[in-house]
Order: sequence, then C-alpha cells, then structure tokens
Amino acid sequence: MTATEFDHTRFKEDQRLHWDAISAGWSSVADAFERGAGVVTARLLELGGVAAGDSVLDVGTGVGEPALTAAAAVGPAGRVVGVDLSPAMVELARRNGAGVANAEFLVGDVESLDLPRSGFDVVLARWSLMFAPEPAAAFRSLARVLKPGGVLAASTWGPPETAPMLSLGFRVLVTRLDLPAPAPGVPGPFGMADPEVPARHLAAAGFTDVSVTEVEVPFELPSPEAYARFTEAITPVAIRRRAREVLGADTSALWAEVAASTAPHRRPDGSVALPSKALCLRATAPSA
Ligand SMILES: C[S@@+](CC[C@H](N)C(=O)[O-])C[C@H]1O[C@@H](n2cnc3c(N)ncnc32)[C@H](O)[C@@H]1O
Repeated sequence: MTATEFDHTRFKEDQRLHWDAISAGWSSVADAFERGAGVVTARLLELGGVAAGDSVLDVGTGVGEPALTAAAAVGPAGRVVGVDLSPAMVELARRNGAGVANAEFLVGDVESLDLPRSGFDVVLARWSLMFAPEPAAAFRSLARVLKPGGVLAASTWGPPETAPMLSLGFRVLVTRLDLPAPAPGVPGPFGMADPEVPARHLAAAGFTDVSVTEVEVPFELPSPEAYARFTEAITPVAIRRRAREVLGADTSALWAEVAASTAPHRRPDGSVALPSKALCLRATAPSA
C-alpha cells in the first residue's frame, strides 16, 4: 500500500470517532471481558516487573485496564498514567478509577505522547498498539517516555483463527453483510498478528531484548446470546449501519446467527468457552 492510498490523519480521526462511539458498549461488556483478560494483565505486569513505587504508563487504556490493576500493584509510592485516543474512553476510565489516588487518565495519542521524557519505569499496552497507523512512530514515542533500560510490556492478538472471541462473530458479519476484507497493512485488531512486525519496529526504535510469548486467554460467556451481545457492543458503528442497510431496521436475525456460530464451543451447561491466544511482547528501552 502506498502513502497516497492510506490517509493517516483521516484514519486517526476515524479511530477516535469509532472508539468514542463504542465506549459505552465496551463498558457494558467490560466485566465479562476482564474475567478472561485478567490473565494477560497479570502477564504484562510480570513481564514489566511492575513493583511498588514504580511509575507506569498504560497506553490505549480504554476504560482503564491494565492501568487500574497496575495502580494497585505500585501502591501509594507509585503512580500510573492511562492514556487513550478516545475522550469518551478516558471519561469512563476516570469514572472507573474514581478514588484511586495514584492513577490519572489523559487523552493522548501513542504516536505523539505529550509526556515527560524518561518519565516511566514501565509502559503497558493491552491490545492497543496494533491500532496505531505508524507503529514506528508509536515505538519511538514509547522509547522517549521510558527511562533508559525501562520495559515495554504489550499484548497483541495472533491470527484471527486463534482468537475466536473476536473473529467468530466478525466472520458472520463479513459473510452476511458482504464486507470487504481488511486491506493489507491497515491497522486493526490483527495488524500485529505476525510478531515480526512489532519486533522490526521495536528494533528500529532502539529497543533491545525483544521477546514474544503466547498466552491463552480463557474467555467464557454464560450463553450464546451473551456472546452475541458482546459482539454487537464492540461492532463498529459503520458495520451496524451497513447491517440496517442490508437487513432493514430489525437486525435481530444477524445477532441470532452470531449466537448460533458459538455451537462448536458450547458446553453442556449452555455456557460458551472461547479460549483465544494473545501474543505478549517484552522489550527493553534504549539505555541512553
Ligand atoms: C481494544 S481497546 C483496548 C483497551 C484496553 N487496553 C483493554 O485491553 O481493555 C484499544 C484502545 O486503544 C485506543 N487507541 C487506538 N488508537 C490509539 C492511539 N493512536 N493512541 C492511543 N490510544 C489508542 C482505543 O481508543 C481503545 O480504547
């Protein structure tokens, strides 16, 4: 893809609008999501070596994780800053973090962080870096705000077939709504499924000791309908609009089909198990 085919500024603005628009939906399913995602938070804190007194940045914090878990880990002598591109997400993170004295949430862009140089011991990023249209700029920006030798610990998704929590429902939407396949190179949930991509950008930004490990995320939903509600809540507004264009005002059959797609993953008690693979990156910031 050439630079003329991809408009970074437009993409960034669309991202902001997208995440703003689904922030309430995301918040409504956050508890169900956290029940699985907690293992990734724990791994990221471990990879980052987050300890009492540390200064931690969480980029792409969404409604506040892993920032709030990190705030508990660093304790009163430490501090956590959560940054997100979406003002609506930041508002929800502030609400979730009300009363947490050592955490603050700011609107910001990972590619151009307006934060002090060498201000953080650890940067965490749970499923956010792959949305940056210029990963090289994102990693340079993170190298700048980390202390020399500080640690970046970030998760991405592996290929779609390894992450049914996201891909099962979206496969139904793509088929039923005749959606175009994402253009290669366009950032999105699976934009860093090949760990070579972030590894290359990390090395270019001066990071060293880059490692990638897989973590199985034990996502579970109480029912197929709960999975359909999760998918609907995180579906981009443009796709929901397309659903109404194709199916009319009543799109319930579409979400029923998303629920039905969980059949191979159903347990005898009616719940749905969708274990998904996250890739966890660890890298050390340049020493000077
Ligand atoms: C999949 S959500 C993950 C949220 C949270 N970390 C979690 O794991 O629940 C991705 C988040 O990245 C944010 N994001 C996307 N592009 C960004 C950018 N360029 N700078 C900062 N945040 C960004 C979105 O607004 C969204 O809240």
